Amino acid sequence: MPRPAVQPGADSDAIRLRPPRWADGPALHALVSQCPPLDLNSVYLYLLLAEHFPQTCILAEDEHGIVGMVSAYRPPGRDDVLFVWQVAVQARARGQGLGGRMLRRLLARPPLRAVRWVETTVGPGNHASRRLFARLADRLAAPLTESPLFEAALFGADAHEAEPLLRIGPISLSAVN
Ligand SMILES: CC(C)(COP(=O)(O)OP(=O)(O)OC[C@H]1O[C@@H](n2cnc3c(N)ncnc32)[C@H](O)[C@@H]1OP(=O)(O)O)[C@@H](O)C(=O)NCCC(=O)NCCS
Repeated sequence: MPRPAVQPGADSDAIRLRPPRWADGPALHALVSQCPPLDLNSVYLYLLLAEHFPQTCILAEDEHGIVGMVSAYRPPGRDDVLFVWQVAVQARARGQGLGGRMLRRLLARPPLRAVRWVETTVGPGNHASRRLFARLADRLAAPLTESPLFEAALFGADAHEAEPLLRIGPISLSAVN
């Protein structure tokens, strides 16, 4: 059964949330380049996100341009899962709840109403990201579990932390606030 709507978190006066478009490709690439420890992908990849996954991606912009984005997708054959790939918020906009607001706004989109699980991978040292997802689990009143996924050695010669899987859910019918 689909869950009820998630309180999406309103736009502030200054910041607007919307799906990505082709023209955002270079700016999304630039944003991610300024947000270590995120892996930087090619501009082409961000164009593909705008082309194929606008329903499950979101960006935040103010009068100066893009200040945040979440890229996510539903893994093939698992329509009740939203896998969050990258979350980026420009340094000047952090700590104001924008990351959480983008995630909740995504979950509130009508095509994502069937989502009962949010998954992501977060390195052990990324405290801000861990806190972001812990807060989301709190807001959804859903358990957050962690299990091994990609070990550091899988990243080859790159110095890269392990990427364990964080899983939030099931998002309950009664506890969404
Ligand atoms: C992770 C990130 C997206 C969070 O964005 P944000 O808009 O600042 O997040 P929020 O304001 O919604 O904060 C979420 C929680 O994290 C906490 N937090 C923020 N920065 C933190 C830090 N450096 N260390 C620990 N906690 C932190 C906030 O206090 C908040 O918790 P609270 O509500 O209990 O106070 C942002 O820090 C970022 O872009 N980091 C670089 C890229 C990255 O690591 N992305 C995530 C990997 S996918």
